[in-house]
Amino acid sequence: MPRLKVLTFPDPRLRKVAVPVTKFDKSLEIVTSNMLETMYAEEGIGLAATQVDIHERIIVMDLSEERNDPKIFINPEFKILNDKSLLSFTEGCLSVPGITEEITRPDNIHLVWQDLKGEKHEAEPSGLLTVCIQHEIDHLEGKLMVDYLSPLKRDRIRKKASK
Ligand code: NI
Repeated sequence: MPRLKVLTFPDPRLRKVAVPVTKFDKSLEIVTSNMLETMYAEEGIGLAATQVDIHERIIVMDLSEERNDPKIFINPEFKILNDKSLLSFTEGCLSVPGITEEITRPDNIHLVWQDLKGEKHEAEPSGLLTVCIQHEIDHLEGKLMVDYLSPLKRDRIRKKASK
């Protein structure tokens, strides 16, 4: 299976908004398995389809230390249950290589998604999954972790990236 090329900031394709998945067929299975292979090869914990220039609402993730617990989220959406409950976490991103930044996000959310068969699931996740799924859903909206930083800091990262 082919590994996919991960787009890096400031590539304008990272700014596209992804469309919902409507076909739960073999090609969706192939895309997700290629995405997982790419994520493992790049040693990431999550990957959104946008990052590999596929503009559909697909996210893959593995938060396990053993790297043996692949998760797939199709058409994920979340609602913030309590906007006063926040978690700060040092985030990194395969599309912003070499940069880690502390970002604060709500940590009390209700998450819905579909699996490869189109079946619906819901959860109220906690900890790392809460952070990671919001980071990846941002990608599907064309948003990057650098958008949470000051314009000055973002500019510095852009300059570093274009060297
Ligand atoms: Ni990312």
